[in-house]
Amino acid sequence: MILGVETSCDDTCAAIVSEAGEVLSNVVSSQGLAHAPFGGVVPEVASRHHLELMDVVIADAFTRAGAALSDVERVAVTRGPGLIGALLVGVSAAKALAAARELPLTPVDHLHGHVVASTLGSEPIEPPYVVLVASGGHTFLARVDEPSTYAVLGQTLDDAAGEAFDKGARLLGLPYPGGPQLDRLARGGNPEAFAFPRAAPGEGLDFSFSGLKTALLYKLRDEPEADPADLAASYQRAIVESLTRRVEQALEREGLERLALGGGVAANSELRGSARSMGVSVWVPPVDLCTDNAAMIAGAARFLEPVAYPGYLKLDAAARLA
Ligand code: KG4
Ligand code: ZN
Repeated sequence: MILGVETSCDDTCAAIVSEAGEVLSNVVSSQGLAHAPFGGVVPEVASRHHLELMDVVIADAFTRAGAALSDVERVAVTRGPGLIGALLVGVSAAKALAAARELPLTPVDHLHGHVVASTLGSEPIEPPYVVLVASGGHTFLARVDEPSTYAVLGQTLDDAAGEAFDKGARLLGLPYPGGPQLDRLARGGNPEAFAFPRAAPGEGLDFSFSGLKTALLYKLRDEPEADPADLAASYQRAIVESLTRRVEQALEREGLERLALGGGVAANSELRGSARSMGVSVWVPPVDLCTDNAAMIAGAARFLEPVAYPGYLKLDAAARLA
């Protein structure tokens, strides 16, 4: 069994995953409510909550898996990228647990976790595949030929797709984090009621979302009577079409017919629907594997070489990875 620990942002996460990719437990303690009054994640608040929650969350992951530390063969932890103070809590906890039993430890790139989340569970995706990872902090397309690594094909040049959802939701007066709320509001609206820009910067497969929230801001200023559901539906359609256009281009350029979605935005109902109508095989993990979680970190560790005790005692968290 692999114990996974993830604390890169505002979710305190621990999970137990088997070498075969079975998720035995996947515990997430979300700090959403602690940050809601600030309209976004406050790094210092996140670190303090991780400190308070880490032990409880790890203990819960063991209980739910019906396992104990003595069953664990190695520990996996998110090393970065993320908030440095938040990451340090997870890295310290993982080092301490691993060192206590002289277990090996695998430092994992958070984004690698999102990239291989679809390799978990009973119907794992097999490489080669294209993956779209769209979350509140990241939006990129990657090619996976071998699950130990990935090649980035394109990424956002400004806002992440989740950020575009959250900022749009905020302008529409929806509470933070607004992505899921905007998704819900959009269901009752007309996606063709308003024209929003669909930026496709450069010749490559990059994304840009920063112009979109400005367009919504102007729309709200110029047409204060506009139906919020129509605005939400049109705004969402613009984000989803910007994403799916690049996904289609990536699949065609790479000559691949297998697509995985990851990151919190993969929970978006319209994105899921659009991906499924592309005519390729699509893997969308359950929502708890799309959003930040430790199962994907333990999952990625299956494909990586662990560091033996005591070599990892000098391991440091990294806000950015090379
Ligand atoms: O992966 P995640 O949990 O955390 C980050 O690493 O950022 O992603 C959270 C993001 C937030 O921006 C949230 O608004 C967005 O995913 N999100 C959604 C939906 N569910 C979550 N965006 C659109 N529609 C949804 N249903
Ligand atoms: Zn993430």
